[in-house]
Amino acid sequence: MATTPTNNRGTWNTKIGFILAAAGSAVGLGNIWRFPTVMAENGGAAFLFIYVLLVFIIGFPVMVAELSIGRRTQKNPVGAFKALSNNKLFTLAGFWCVLCGVAILSFYVIIAGWTISYFFEQVFYFFGMTDWSAWVANTDNGWLNAGLAILFMGLTVSIILGGVSQGIERAVRYLMPMLVVIILILIGYVMFQPGAGAGFREYLVPDFSVIDMDLILAAMGQAFFSLSLGMGALITYGSYLSKRENIPSAAAYVTGFDVGIAFLAGMLIMPTVYMAQAQGVAIFDDAGSLLAGPALIFQVLPELFHEMGGLMGLIFGASFFFLLSIAALTSSISLLEVPTSYVIDEHGVSRKKAAIGIGAFITIISLFIAFDTGLIDHIDFIFSVIGLPLGGLIISLFLAYVWKTESAKMELQNGFENIGSHWFWPVWKIFIKFICPILIALILATTIYDVIR
Ligand code: PFF
Repeated sequence: MATTPTNNRGTWNTKIGFILAAAGSAVGLGNIWRFPTVMAENGGAAFLFIYVLLVFIIGFPVMVAELSIGRRTQKNPVGAFKALSNNKLFTLAGFWCVLCGVAILSFYVIIAGWTISYFFEQVFYFFGMTDWSAWVANTDNGWLNAGLAILFMGLTVSIILGGVSQGIERAVRYLMPMLVVIILILIGYVMFQPGAGAGFREYLVPDFSVIDMDLILAAMGQAFFSLSLGMGALITYGSYLSKRENIPSAAAYVTGFDVGIAFLAGMLIMPTVYMAQAQGVAIFDDAGSLLAGPALIFQVLPELFHEMGGLMGLIFGASFFFLLSIAALTSSISLLEVPTSYVIDEHGVSRKKAAIGIGAFITIISLFIAFDTGLIDHIDFIFSVIGLPLGGLIISLFLAYVWKTESAKMELQNGFENIGSHWFWPVWKIFIKFICPILIALILATTIYDVIR
């Protein structure tokens, strides 16, 4: 972020710079690791349908809310709630956002570590070093997981300390399109492999009879996770956004980009899962649940690259995992930025001390997860599936009934002068006041009722 002498918070250099940074936060492991895994566990196409629906009816309006609160207050989530209301309950809600960031990052670095180990797996495999490639490909190796998580956290902290915007802007502007191209080519390749047809069908032809509350909850959690919503990451990023920018339009780009990449990742991974199954690899158990769990893509994709064989396999395999680690890095930066900016703003700690201290603290939690990766599902359920929508519920209620939509309108007018006479305004107002909070609350309440019943 470029810093100006008068305001040491800094702003993103350009509109495209901001969009790239926010898209960098949104596009990450959530699209390529989490989306296909959760979808495969939840009935394929029907999940995709509900997911896309929820992205547009809940995700997009909440994104506009987070960005406007952030730009208005120029603060982290705790500071933002405090700046606009004296009610201590909202300060507590701000802490919840920070806590979700800490918890999610603690397992995010483990999965991101796997993207690095599988990069090496591809290289070792190509050079015939099969012992080495098998060693790095073991996601149950606690020491390896721990080492890679420390490495990945080190990279995240070092970028947060240096110029955030330059690094992210460059990574997203050049490397993300490369990731998209590689995914497209791989989809083309997979399309003609035996067994892939069943995967495409599972992905694109919905069976609406499988839709139940679990599926809807999972889709809502995925929408929040993938769009980086519900924990104030976009409040924090919005605080660096210039007053000249049109928030709804920036949010629309980010949402579109994020959904597009998740959709493509599904087009690649679902058929690959079925291809692997056609070759005799057990992917589902008798009850239709995935056997692979969080390691799904790390089991089927390397096989795909090995099958391509030779230099082709190496080029696609190594580039895919390299680009995926960059995508993970531009997201982990935003996860760490939330607690870091909280400590800087509210406790006057220097950026350096804050980033290193919090990075070290989260790494300690990650070490426990490194040795017991089964914890990932539990932490993910509490903080992503329940935690982020809960944060989103509080943010929409806060905007609508405490800060008030009229105040939000004044903020949104910066960069969107005629918002008052645009169709967007009345529609967004209805969504943020009624549709979003009611839907989120209903889905969460049904889940809690199911659990305690
Ligand atoms: N959206 C990121 C992904 O899809 O990988 C993960 C994430 C980043 C979630 C930032 C939440 C957040 F605040």
